[in-house]
Formats: sequence, structure tokens, C-alpha cells
Amino acid sequence: MHPMLKIAVRAAHNAGDLIQRSVERVDSLDVTAKAKNDFATEVDRAAEREIIQVIHKAYPAHGFLAEESGEHKGNDYVWVIDPLDGTTNFIHGFPQFSVSIALRHKGKYEVGVVYDPMRAELFTASRGEGAMLNNRRIRVTKRKNFHGALLGTGFPFKAQQHLDAYLEMFKAMFPDSAGIRRPGSAALDLAYVACGRLDGFWEIGLREWDMAAGLLLIQEAGGIVTDFEGKDDFVRSGNTLAANPKLHELMKETIEPCLTDGLRSRA
Ligand code: IPD
Ligand code: CA
Ligand code: CA
Repeated sequence: MHPMLKIAVRAAHNAGDLIQRSVERVDSLDVTAKAKNDFATEVDRAAEREIIQVIHKAYPAHGFLAEESGEHKGNDYVWVIDPLDGTTNFIHGFPQFSVSIALRHKGKYEVGVVYDPMRAELFTASRGEGAMLNNRRIRVTKRKNFHGALLGTGFPFKAQQHLDAYLEMFKAMFPDSAGIRRPGSAALDLAYVACGRLDGFWEIGLREWDMAAGLLLIQEAGGIVTDFEGKDDFVRSGNTLAANPKLHELMKETIEPCLTDGLRSRA
């Protein structure tokens, strides 16, 4: 295993163990609202500290971009961290959340880990070396159209100005697909596309820490991730469309008529 991936896995396991131990006491946790519908708990912060500590010990010169503590300047290796993706689920004891860690170097993601502590499922990828679930190779599905397709999505609960456009996308995608799921942890949703549990996924306005590891997993599993117009602008806009190449094209065409100016790629 790539040495940097090994460190990321150690950090994700430690954070995941901490999160799992805290599930039983969610009722007594102190919940802070960072913005409307955007929550964090002491567990998010403790998990993030643990991840940074493990990585910093191994790579003291590297920088960090972490959801709860922001940017920590370092050299041109930057660890992009979501210590607990799916905090709303976690607060409610709804067992669907994950730890997401990726390493960005000069604009490319080198390693990525998404860990689901409730199912002990570890998704890993390093660039050019494929994607794995618990050390077994994973691939995206081969489905070419919506027939029989299970899609994942996220609701724009933090960006409700896009609700109408989002619902149009939903209406366009819904009738021909086998089902649409909204599990509540974008990092895990992307990992599910990588391993074929979902055929495709879309969400408006993700942040880099939600998608960085999932993006590498999907690319290494034979899929593609773009913004809604098929461009690379998704890390800036957060507008994320992921699937195998054939279904991705179809989803893009289906979404196109629903796009408002605010959801298009920057010229
Ligand atoms: C959220 C989850 C959710 C997605 C939101 C994210 P958080 O992350 O990934 O599925 O719909 O857009 O912000 O806040 O729980 O880390
Ligand atoms: Ca997140
Ligand atoms: Ca989070």
C-alpha cells in the first residue's frame, strides 16, 4: 500500500472508532449550528483533531484543509479532510455517516479514503492503482441507461435558492430510474458509486472535503465526476455529477434543461 494511503487509513480508523464510540451518547452531545442546517458537534472536532495529529506526525511539512478548523498552511501537499460526513444523520443516531480524507498535490488527488465506522467498510484509492473496498478491487456499474438504475442524490438543504431547479432535475431523472436514494453522507454516496451500489449520483453545492476522496475512488473505479455541464469546475462550484461514462452522459443530457445560470459552469 502507498505509504501516504497507509497513514490516511490509520487516521480514518482512529477517527471512525472515536465516532462509533460516541454514537451511544448522541443525546448528550453539544450541537453547534454553524449556519442554517449546518451542524457540528464536539465529535466532529475531536475526530478532526485526531486525523490531523496522525497525519502531522508522519508528514510535518504537509498542509491541511479541514472542514472544522479550516486551512493549515504547509508545503504543496494538502490533506483535505471531512472528519464526519453526515453530521445530521449522526446527531439523530441514523447510522449513515463517514470519515473522508484525501491528499491533494498540485491540483491532483493522490490518495483517498472513505471509512464507514458502523459497517467497518473502508474504501481506498491511490492514483493509478485502482479503488478498493476492504482490500478488494471495486468497479462502477456498466448500466447504460436509467432502466433498472439506482441513483443517489443530496438535497440542497443548505442552498435552498436552488430548490426549484433541483426538483426539476429530480422529476427528469425519476420516472425512468429504478429508484433514487438520499442517504445523507455525500462521501459515502460517491464511494457507493465507485463500488456499484449506486449507478449514479448528483448533488448541488458540495464542498471539496465532501467529494475529494470519493472523486478519486470513482475515477480509479472506472467512472467519471464532473459538474453539471460535464466540465472540471465541480471543486469550485460543488455541483457534482458522477456515474460510469455512458450513464454520466445520459444524466448530463437529462439535467441540462433544468440548469439555471447559477448552476452552469463558469465560462
Ligand atoms: C453533508 C453531507 C450531506 C450533503 C451535504 C454535506 P456534513 O456533509 O455530505 O450528504 O448533502 O451537502 O454538507 O455537513 O454532514 O459534513
Ligand atoms: Ca461533509
Ligand atoms: Ca462534516
